[in-house]
Formats: sequence, C-alpha cells, structure tokens
Amino acid sequence: MALKLQCCFFCICLVIFLSLGFWASQIEARVLAEMSMVDRHEQWMAQYGRVYKDAAEKEKRFLIFKNNVERIELFNRPGGNNYTLSINLFADLSDEEFKATRTGYRSLTGQRPSLNTEFRYNNVTDVPTSMDWREKGAVTPIKDQGSCGCCWAFTAVAAMEGITQLKTGNLISLSEQELVDCDNTNKGCNGGNIDKAFQFIVQNRGLTTESNYPYEEVDGTCSEEKAAEHAAMITGYEDVPSSNEQELLTAVANQPVSVAIDGSGHPFKYYSSGIFTGECGTNLDHAVTLIGYGVNEKGIKYWLVKNSWGTSWGENGYMRIQRDVAAKEGLCGLAMEPSYPTA
Ligand SMILES: *[C@@H]1O[C@H](CO)[C@@H](O)[C@H](O)[C@H]1NC(C)=O
Ligand SMILES: *[C@@H]1O[C@H](CO)[C@@H](O)[C@H](O)[C@H]1NC(C)=O
Repeated sequence: MALKLQCCFFCICLVIFLSLGFWASQIEARVLAEMSMVDRHEQWMAQYGRVYKDAAEKEKRFLIFKNNVERIELFNRPGGNNYTLSINLFADLSDEEFKATRTGYRSLTGQRPSLNTEFRYNNVTDVPTSMDWREKGAVTPIKDQGSCGCCWAFTAVAAMEGITQLKTGNLISLSEQELVDCDNTNKGCNGGNIDKAFQFIVQNRGLTTESNYPYEEVDGTCSEEKAAEHAAMITGYEDVPSSNEQELLTAVANQPVSVAIDGSGHPFKYYSSGIFTGECGTNLDHAVTLIGYGVNEKGIKYWLVKNSWGTSWGENGYMRIQRDVAAKEGLCGLAMEPSYPTA
C-alpha cells in the first residue's frame, strides 16, 4: 500500500515536472522567436537604412514588421504557389501608409477624358505569341517613386519613353518631376490620372529629360524654363476599350501601355517572383506600365509589368501578372482603364 502510494506520488511528480518542462520550453521557444524577430527587424532596418525617431516609433514599427513577416511566411509555405513574397522595403509600413505614399492613381470614375475615341489597334489580329519591349530597347531602367504618390507620372513617362523610342529610335529617360511640379490638372505626390497627364504633355508640347529635371520625391515649384526644353513629344493618346484583354493584347503588342491597377493588397505589395495570380480587388489605386506578355512553362499566360518601386521589389522591379483571367476587368482590374500615347 505504502509502496503504491509512493509510486503514485512519484508518477504525479513526474507528470508535473514534465509538463512544467514542456511549458517552460514553449515559453522559451516563444521568447526566442520574439527575440529573433527583434534581430530580424534590426537586420532589416540596416538593410534598408531605416532610422526611427524614438523608442516608441521603433516599437510601433516592430509590431507592423512582425505582423507583415508572419503573413509573408505563412503565404510562402511550400505547396505550389504560383509566386513568392518577400520581406521587402515595405515591411514596416501599415496598409494605409503604403497606399497613401507608394501608389497614387486617381480614376475619373467612368469619364475617361479622351481627346479622340480612336483605338488604332482595333483591327489588328496578327500579334506575336510573346513580346518584351525591353529586348527592343524601348524601356528605360526601373525607377523609384519613393514616398510620393505619383505612380501616374511614372507610367505616363514610361509609355511615352516607349513610343518615342519606337518612333525615333532613341531611348531617352524623361522627367516625372516635370509632371509632378507642372501638371496642375493632377495632384503631384497626392495622386493623379494617366490620361490627364498625357493631355498635359500634349498641351505642354513635350517633356524634358530626367537629367535636366531630376526626380525629387516631393511636390515642387514648376520650373517653366526646364519645362520648355522639350526632349520628346506626343501628339495625343488613346484609350484601349475597357475590360477587354484581347484588345489590350493588340495594343501591348504594338507599344508599352499604361494601366491602372489595384496595387495595394498584401500579396501585391510583397510580390517577389513568379506569376502573380492574386488575391487582389479592382479598386484602381496604382498605375504601372505593361511592357510585354508571354506564357510560362506551365502554360500560364502573363503580362510583363514595369513598376516604379525600385529594383528591390519583385523581379528586379518588374512583375509577371496573370493574363486572360475569367474576370473581364483583368487581374487586379488592369484591363479597366488602359491607355497609350501616340506620336
Ligand atoms: C496557379 O495558377 C493556376 C492558373 O491560374 C491556378 O489554376 C492555380 O490554382 C494556381 N495555384 C495556386 C496555388 O494558387
Ligand atoms: C476597322 O475596320 C472597320 C471595318 O473595316 C473600319 O471601318 C475601321 O475604320 C477600322 N478601324 C481602324 C482603327 O482601322
């Protein structure tokens, strides 16, 4: 009897001891995970040159960073995703901050201000199976809008650089800052519309070069003098018929095309490589340039996107996004408001 009791007592002690040990190791693992997250935040700060004004700001940024990292890692678990995410330069920004400073497209809700209603690629049926305007020398290196909501200026300029090269043979990097400072029909770092930017360029009789009027990442005063030194011009612009990826294909087969897109969703923001297949909506808040298209080895069709978030985002600044999706608006609404300049 005594032996039995003793044994039982021993058993209970053992169980308690083991469970204490278990909980301790759990807590320890969590503390370690948390510590390594702190280390990772420090490393990330060093990598992207981030400095916070005080400890409170750092704590706030750490919590955002941690949340984003956890979401990214959950997504990247092995299991046949078509694309991967990375803990990139946006990892310490909240969704609202990101949208306010890294995008900047303003849709005119239905009223697309066309100078004319022509769509010159209307009757084009013969298009190559793939296209990459970079290979034809019609695309300047990736630029970075930084913390200024002027994606609209970057895509208008990219499309204009494209048509200029196709018409003249010269690839000239043109000025976004001129649009940010001088185009009063748009709102500089507070957002703008691509078609209105094209209209401004037509009325201004051209744009100057990037080197003459370099990018400042802030709203500035228009330099009339520099704005008068035109390096390239366009004669107008045309809208691709809305929500029709077939029509969009004929346009992109012929020149780089500007598109509005829903670009502030979590997976879009942290896209790293592969073919982006969503999730995203059709709330057009960003603008990018379609500089080609193709089909991958698995048979998934894609558009080649030039973004303005620097080269550390995506595939060296570019994205491949799924083409010919079931929704007529295109993935992330990219087929809703495409347009291109004419020269
Ligand atoms: C990858 O893309 C294909 C083609 O759209 C789709 O059928 C598949 O579900 C995607 N895979 C994942 C994991 O989303
Ligand atoms: C397309 O074809 C139609 C019918 O032949 C013609 O009326 C129209 O002008 C053409 N459009 C363009 C942009 O060439």
